[in-house]
Amino acid sequence: MDERPWWIVVGGRTRLGRCVAEDLAADHNLVVTTSRPEPPESGGTASLSTRTPARILRWDAADTRLVPRMMADLAQLGAEGIRFRGALIAAGSFPRQPFGSWDPESLAATWELNLTFPLLAAQALAPHFEDGGSLQLLLDTALHRPFQDYLPYSAAKAALGALVPGLARAFAPRIRVAGHALGVVMPEADCDADHLAQRTLMQRNGSPEDLIRAVRYIADSPYVTGEILTLDGGRRWA
Ligand SMILES: NC(=O)c1ccc[n+]([C@@H]2O[C@H](COP(=O)([O-])OP(=O)(O)OC[C@H]3O[C@@H](n4cnc5c(N)ncnc54)[C@H](OP(=O)(O)O)[C@@H]3O)[C@@H](O)[C@H]2O)c1
Repeated sequence: MDERPWWIVVGGRTRLGRCVAEDLAADHNLVVTTSRPEPPESGGTASLSTRTPARILRWDAADTRLVPRMMADLAQLGAEGIRFRGALIAAGSFPRQPFGSWDPESLAATWELNLTFPLLAAQALAPHFEDGGSLQLLLDTALHRPFQDYLPYSAAKAALGALVPGLARAFAPRIRVAGHALGVVMPEADCDADHLAQRTLMQRNGSPEDLIRAVRYIADSPYVTGEILTLDGGRRWA
């Protein structure tokens, strides 16, 4: 019987979520969520890569039946005896929305994926943890100093960051909660990554390994909860 603990990576199909999921797969069983439709032949089980088997759940922030879907999926996993040692909520978007371009629909879409969805996922997941587990959220160094062309995104991350201690209180003592306020780790294709690196004290952008180390540190630190680790190479002090 496979005794490896279970983790869930919400938004773990691509980019940073996927990097963490692939690392965790070395010593954990994995559930990964994606908003993409499941290939019909997968039967809910697929591989992120040939070396990373994972149970795949389809959770789309825009799904009007999202909450019952989450509950049903997690009840099904619970019925199989699956309880989580850890969860990473990595889903998000990074829309450029300069002042003057705002309208209710675009603001609601940004906040739906970057704020409402993580909160709903946290609420759904909480009853499905092992005692002593950790729930970790991917935040942004923008919560220290908002990005001027990304104020709606910055607002969502700041709100989520402000709730980390509240979630820690809500879930204590069974589950610990922490956030990672990331600087540039996987830059968007259209940005000047070298320029952004020069704006940090460490003179470099982050790497997925920087995040993976921090996720494992929180997972292995039973006296840490309600904290936000800033992983931005000192960008906010530069
Ligand atoms: N990359 C960086 O350098 C950086 C810097 C600071 C903060 N962050 C934060 O770190 C997290 C990961 O960032 P990232 O750049 O790796 O990825 P990302 O492009 O922000 O996307 C993360 C995940 O969101 C999921 N997603 C997209 N639309 C969704 C929807 N409608 N419903 C549910 N999930 C949806 C995607 O998976 P599917 O397409 O499979 O659904 C994707 O795996 C984000 O929260 C981001 O704000 C990243």
